[in-house]
Amino acid sequence: MSATIFIVDDDADHLSALADLVETSGYAVQAFASATAALEAMAAQPDLVISDLRMPGMDGIAFVKALRAQEQGVPVVLLTGHGDVGHAVEAMRAGAEDFLEKPYESAHLLAVMRRTLEAQSARREVARLQTVLAERADVSILGKSRAMRDFRKRIAALASVDLDVVITGETGTGKELAARAIHAASARADGPFVALNCAVLPEAMAETILFGHGEGVFAHDSAGRAGKLEAAHGGTLMLDEVETMPMAIQAKLLRVLQERSFERMGEANARHLDVRVVATTKTNLRLLDTFRPDFFFRLAGAELSTPTLHEAGEDIPLIFAHYAQLAARRYGRADPEVPWILSQKLKRQAWRGNVRELKTSAEAFALGLYEVEGTGTPTSGPMTLADRVAQFEAREIAAVLDAHAGNTLRAAQSLGIPRRTLNDKMRRYGITTDHERKSEDG
Ligand SMILES: Nc1ncnc2c1ncn2[C@@H]1O[C@H](COP(=O)(O)OP(=O)(O)OP(=O)(O)O)[C@@H](O)[C@H]1O
Ligand SMILES: [Mg+2]
Repeated sequence: MSATIFIVDDDADHLSALADLVETSGYAVQAFASATAALEAMAAQPDLVISDLRMPGMDGIAFVKALRAQEQGVPVVLLTGHGDVGHAVEAMRAGAEDFLEKPYESAHLLAVMRRTLEAQSARREVARLQTVLAERADVSILGKSRAMRDFRKRIAALASVDLDVVITGETGTGKELAARAIHAASARADGPFVALNCAVLPEAMAETILFGHGEGVFAHDSAGRAGKLEAAHGGTLMLDEVETMPMAIQAKLLRVLQERSFERMGEANARHLDVRVVATTKTNLRLLDTFRPDFFFRLAGAELSTPTLHEAGEDIPLIFAHYAQLAARRYGRADPEVPWILSQKLKRQAWRGNVRELKTSAEAFALGLYEVEGTGTPTSGPMTLADRVAQFEAREIAAVLDAHAGNTLRAAQSLGIPRRTLNDKMRRYGITTDHERKSEDG
């Protein structure tokens, strides 16, 4: 399909001459006598606009500004008269792609057009890929909270570059999930993802596990074997719990990453290596005596920290419901209904094990094995009438409390019950007012 070009000029003779030139060069052309008319036709989504700078009414600069204000990314090439350089600079600042001084050579104009169209289609392709990649990275990371949304954005951004990454975060906050998501959304997605847990790497074996060994080095494995590095060639190597890596190995690995080549143990020839390293840790590597700073700086081309479940607190019910449903389906059970009261209780729990702990609880809940604190009864299964009434009551109480800014005296009056009864019910349903919550947090 040929590109669509809008041509805008108040000079009718120049407009038709230019339209002819562009059309005979194989483009689809729409000609306009004013910027206002062109603006009204933007729904046709032109690939390029060529516009005169000096026009009565809306001039070229105002036209570019209007397009940008409408978030129209279409490139604009302005045609300027002799001595209009000052205006041309202003036009570029306003967001014009290029300008051309009149009189111009046809060949020159066509060259500028071609270049601009190519740049534009490259930009569109990049934007398209970024969206595709961001969507791929999104798949498994749940949550609507600001913390989780930022987390997904960072992952998408890191996937679009090829830097080594250090991911830091508490247990169960999705460090491995993030490492996999970065790989899956990166240009290396079709290459291997190799995970190596440094904590279970016996020092004596570390070298052969990482670098592999050549033919005849070990009698029991005489053919030779590729190590983890080689296995990750063309893809991503995750170094899990990287803080536990022995310092001697850190030094060797640093050299390999710098030289982008390595030798298998017992071999002399160097092998080329193309891996992206994503290292995960629960600690601050900068402060660790047993972590080489040079190795740290080599790895930390970029850094990512994973949000705790506390930071993403509002996502707790959503993540719980998701994993409860998955587990129920896996065991062929009906989709579990999560009572509102339970959601409220879950939100207030500490979750030191973060999403992993929440996920385990959700799975137990789906199988009827999760006991809600204090009630001694499993909460899954169909809701009874009593459950429904309790849920309704709790929700009402919470709403009335909200309406009275947490003032229990006024809320009790409004509900038509004694304050003591309200307090009992609040305790039973685990409802706290903001005031109490704040003092709990602090
Ligand atoms: N935002 C999230 N949405 C959905 N699932 C998540 C999210 N974050 C973590 N999980 C899930 O929680 C579990 C723990 O995540 P993961 O193994 O990546 O944590 P980790 O940070 O590597 O923990 P550890 O430090 O203990 O190894 C996984 O099953 C993962 O899929
Ligand atoms: Mg992990």
